[in-house]
Amino acid sequence: MKIKQAHWHHFFGGVALLLLIIQILSGSVLTMFYDPHLNEAYASVQKIYNELSVVAWIRDTHRWAALFLMVAVIMHFIRSFLRKDYLNRDSKTLWLTGILLYLPMLGFLFTGVILPWEWRGYWFMEMVPNYVYELPLIGPSLSDFLISAFTLNRTLVMHVCILPAVTLVLMGIHTFTRVMKRTGGLTLYVLEHTPLTLPFLLAIAVLAYALPMPSQDPAIIPMPLDGENIPTAEWFILIFYVPYLYFKGFMATLFAFYIPVIIFLVLAIFPYFTRRRRGKSGRNIEQETHPIERSGAFTKIMAPFQKALGARAYAKTLAFLTVFLVSMVLFGPLYAVSHKSPTYGCNSCHNITAGLRLGLPPATFKDRVMNPNLKDNTFMVGHWFYPQVIW
Ligand code: HEC
Repeated sequence: MKIKQAHWHHFFGGVALLLLIIQILSGSVLTMFYDPHLNEAYASVQKIYNELSVVAWIRDTHRWAALFLMVAVIMHFIRSFLRKDYLNRDSKTLWLTGILLYLPMLGFLFTGVILPWEWRGYWFMEMVPNYVYELPLIGPSLSDFLISAFTLNRTLVMHVCILPAVTLVLMGIHTFTRVMKRTGGLTLYVLEHTPLTLPFLLAIAVLAYALPMPSQDPAIIPMPLDGENIPTAEWFILIFYVPYLYFKGFMATLFAFYIPVIIFLVLAIFPYFTRRRRGKSGRNIEQETHPIERSGAFTKIMAPFQKALGARAYAKTLAFLTVFLVSMVLFGPLYAVSHKSPTYGCNSCHNITAGLRLGLPPATFKDRVMNPNLKDNTFMVGHWFYPQVIW
């Protein structure tokens, strides 16, 4: 099958759409086996691991596909940004809905990690109110509200009803309406993108098989430092909490909350304050040339390469390298701060053979007087990253 030029343009957008479909399918299977009662949730996950290995693989596929989906939407964004899609006259809604889609995506990640309700889920649930606590005026009451509003059932409803609904509405405006107007519609689009997405699907299948979440305690108990230096699907959200490892109070909130929110808002309104200059062809001047190509010195240095490769291949290589470098700048820090996290090792201490206290998350879990550690971010994040030292 010949792949249209336009499809390569939103290659990662297409990958993301397919992964979203994988998430809906695998998620639907998981809802059949999950029990949202506090004392049963983790048991229902463990039951899958002990009795239904295919469903366990589907669960790990769901975890890894979530990570790949997040990477795909970020790559999709980087490419659109470098291509200056925000300058297109009629694509402001496209841009805005694209940026807004990150919100339900994050919502999925947060609620998804909480749902299994082992100690990782418990940890994440307690960190969400801590995360907003430092905000001026509303912080403490918002934090209290989140604590009292939390139940596993509500988290499940968010994860399988509200967030999918929001995502589908935004996706409707973002792509579906346009894609469906084309010949072949959505079906052809998905079919055309399937071969392009195959390498990713294969990688997810292998990762889900090779790096499953160890959930077979107490029959098989992991080591406390399991997961150190091994990529886990949960790394992505940890990055929001890592600032608490190095900073306290306002400084931590600055890096964990304010800076991401400011970046998000600036990107969302980007098309509304960038100026367009029209070229002769009616297209935008900025879109016709690559910013690097417009800088004289760079063109001079690169002239021999351009000659050797030919103009087309040269432009393609340049675009590829730019995307590669920008994505490394984004994903490099993610690796740098998360690779020490022994995410797979929590159950080594937190399992039922270590006694009730360390077995299931305690019934007093919301009570920060009974469990003072919960509101101590330095303890919480330190314990996640260095559980053998900080406990
Ligand atoms: C080396 C053993 C060990 C490992 C590994 C470990 N923990 Fe803990 N954890 C403990 C102990 C012991 C406590 C109780 C500390 C206290 O009460 O002072 C604790 C406390 C906690 C608490 C505080 C709330 C409470 O009820 O006391 C949370 C949350 C938690 N662990 C989550 C995790 C997570 C998530 C991981 C994996 C990243 C993990 N733990 C790995 C031993 C461990």
